[in-house]
Formats: sequence, C-alpha cells, structure tokens
Amino acid sequence: MPDSENKTSPAPFSFDDSPIARELADLTSRRKALADVHVEFDDTTRVLTVSNQKGGVGKTTTTVNLAAGLASVGARVLVIDLDPQGNASTALGIPHSADVASIYDVLIDEEPLADVIQTSPESPNLLCAPSTINLAGAEIELVSKVAREHRLRTALDTYLRDNHVDFVFIDCPPSLGLLTINAFTAATEVLIPIQCEYYALEGLSQLLGSVTMIQKHLNTSLHLSTILLTMYDGRTRLAQQVADEVRTHFPETVLTTVIPRSVRISEAPSFGQTVIAYDGQSVGAVAYREAAVEIVRRGHQQKSDEGAH
Ligand SMILES: Nc1ncnc2c1ncn2[C@@H]1O[C@H](COP(=O)(O)OP(=O)(O)O)[C@@H](O)[C@H]1O
Ligand SMILES: [Mg+2]
Repeated sequence: MPDSENKTSPAPFSFDDSPIARELADLTSRRKALADVHVEFDDTTRVLTVSNQKGGVGKTTTTVNLAAGLASVGARVLVIDLDPQGNASTALGIPHSADVASIYDVLIDEEPLADVIQTSPESPNLLCAPSTINLAGAEIELVSKVAREHRLRTALDTYLRDNHVDFVFIDCPPSLGLLTINAFTAATEVLIPIQCEYYALEGLSQLLGSVTMIQKHLNTSLHLSTILLTMYDGRTRLAQQVADEVRTHFPETVLTTVIPRSVRISEAPSFGQTVIAYDGQSVGAVAYREAAVEIVRRGHQQKSDEGAH
C-alpha cells in the first residue's frame, strides 16, 4: 500500500452521512416543498380510470390516495368505486352496506349519480360514489341492458352538467368485463399502476390492446396518460430493474414520482382512511401527494403544448 494512503486516517463516523440521515433530510425537504406547493384548477374535469386487470397491484390504493392528495391541494375530486369489493369506499370512510344507494343503482336502475354520491369525512372536497356488494351481479345484469357500455358515461355527463369537480377517478375491478368497459367509455385518461415486482409487465399488452379496442369502437378520446410505479422497494435490484424497464417502454408516460412500499399505506384502510389523513407526513403519503401534484402539472403542460400547436 503506498505511504500516502496509509497516512490518511478514515473520516470519523458522522450520523449526517449515514443513509438513514440522508433519507430523513431528503424527506424533510420534500415535505417542505409540498407545503409550499400552489396549484391552480380551471373549469375542466379530467376523468381518469385506474385500471390493470391484475389484482393486488395497487389500483385502489392509488385511486384513493391520489384523490386525497389532490383534495389536499384544493382540487374537488370524485371517486367512483366500480369494484364490487368496495375497498375504495372503505378507504374513504364511506358506508357501503348492501342497503346504501350506490353505483349499482346508477348503472342498473339509472338513478342519478348525484343521488348516490357521499362526501368523505376526510375532506369536503373528496366525494365518492360507493360500490356495494350488489355490484357483483351487475356484470351479468348489464349484458341485457340498453347501451350497456355507456351507462356510466351517460350518468357522469349528466352529473357534470350541474356539478363541477376537477378530477374523477374510477377504481376498476381486476377484470376486463363490462364494468371496466363502462369505466373506459366514461374516461379520457387511463392510469395504470404497476407494481415493481416479478411479472409486472405481464398482461400489460392485453390491457393496452383493450384500450385500443375501446378507442376504436366506443371512445376515441381514451388514451393511456399515466403510469405510476408502486410498491417500490429501493433495496432490491429487481424493483430497480422493473422501474427501468417500464421507463424504457413508456418514457413519456411514467411519473417521476415512485410510490414506495410502506406499512403506513397498507395500514390506513383499516382505519377507514387514506394515508394522507392517516399519516400525511409519512413517506408513502408524501409520495402520493407528490404524484398528485405531478399529475396536475403534467395536465397543465399538455394543455399549453396543445395550445402552442
Ligand atoms: N405502496 C404500498 N405499500 C405497501 N402496501 C401497499 C402499497 N400499495 C398497496 N398496498 C397493499 O397491497 C394490497 C393490494 O393493493 P390494492 O390497492 O388493494 O390493489 P388492487 O386494487 O389493484 O387490487 C393492499 O393490501 C394494499 O394495502
Ligand atoms: Mg382494488
């Protein structure tokens, strides 16, 4: 070993240099940045359907936490729970037992959407059309109904004529049946949460194929606008590889913000809360709030790009 190297004594350990300290400092500055965020909303409504025919990839978690993140920066947001399991309704603290007026009544009996919408106890800006277990039968009941693919679209259009919301998020069941088709027909944007794990991209081409079919036959304005990487575990190389692969395939579509795997995120629904209300300064809540702001800003950017053309 050369002499010069021998002489340099190792730097004394400093807590400030440890990875944990760096992460905390980083989180602190992200929280500060969020506290200073100011976003504006105009009179348009963006309708996003959160879809992925795989279960357990974070659709519902993403729906409710983005909605709450947006509400926390002043947006008025409607969540339409289209999954018979009703997990989005639960997470937003909305009662949804079988006797509650729900999206089932809208789809099957043509009740006005306004009559089934409830306000989340979390925020006056956070609205939800709940799902009940009745919706489990709707997939079959819809088959024989008139305009079976357009029923949600019609209900939503009617609602939006008299009521303004800045965002509508539709939480889809994990299948490509008539409920999901109704969501695709009612929305303009598709948001796909992708879990940073094995087989993350499996089934994605089928999903994109369905989007193309809907575009062609039912809704020309539908497009994939947003991919959100979720349940990211930075300690594993696999998560990094999946994230890189998705970014390579969809460079324009993937949000910069990544949602980490976080216990707080998974605990929140059992308290009937989003993570934004449950622990708004936790790393998972900060990530969802950042993703919400990114979605708003990308929308503004897109509008100004379109204006320039
Ligand atoms: N970022 C995350 N960190 C930890 N757990 C998560 C995260 N996102 C989702 N989960 C958990 O993973 C499970 C599946 O998520 P969910 O949103 O219900 O998926 P989907 O709606 O696609 O079926 C739930 O138990 C949820 O609490
Ligand atoms: Mg779900």
